[in-house]
Amino acid sequence: MSEQLWTWLAARRNHPPRRLVAPGPDAVALERIFEAAAQAPDHGQLRPWRFIVIPAGRRGDLGEVFERALAERDPAADDEARTRARDKAFHSPCLLVAVLDDAPKGTITTAEKLVSLGCAVQNMLTAAQALGYASGLASGAAMNSAGMRELLRLERQEQAICFVAFGSSSAARPPRERPRPEEFVSIL
Ligand SMILES: Cc1cc2nc3c(=O)[nH]c(=O)nc-3n(C[C@H](O)[C@H](O)[C@H](O)COP(=O)(O)O)c2cc1C
Repeated sequence: MSEQLWTWLAARRNHPPRRLVAPGPDAVALERIFEAAAQAPDHGQLRPWRFIVIPAGRRGDLGEVFERALAERDPAADDEARTRARDKAFHSPCLLVAVLDDAPKGTITTAEKLVSLGCAVQNMLTAAQALGYASGLASGAAMNSAGMRELLRLERQEQAICFVAFGSSSAARPPRERPRPEEFVSIL
């Protein structure tokens, strides 16, 4: 393996979207990141996933969804909590949602489709790292709220899996201790 690839893989850390600041990837870099997603393995070539960009002009709509989902979960949430929920939508200069398409297709299972989505996401994270950007994944209780599904215009068989955020790191994160191969590899 090239040392350079190893450096990118090992240097990636998850950054909460609130810690990602400008500059984020420009249109050319983002296209490259999406091309990296397209290199993912995909049993049956279903492309059982897609990514929805939340542009600056739609962050307010996302904030309303976060606030509404909070109010549904916790009707007693105070103004401060509601503002915090809304503000989450404005974190990170580049914000996408990863969507799984679980339409029944032959013998290919939901798990296989999720693996393909995960591979696409990892390719994007590595590509972003190689392009000099930091990244972060985020999920949460609002992910498949009715409001979120409506905002994203998800089809019945689709599921929002996580946010994928790109930007520049406002606080460098040291490498974390990784599981050693002997902890997760066995020989039959
Ligand atoms: C599908 C998915 C959803 C995630 N959602 C969150 C999240 O909501 N909040 C969070 O802090 N991290 C989230 N993460 C990131 C993990 O917390 C992070 O990968 C883990 O702490 C390991 O850190 P590392 O990525 O820097 O190695 C998510 C990761 C995945 C794969």
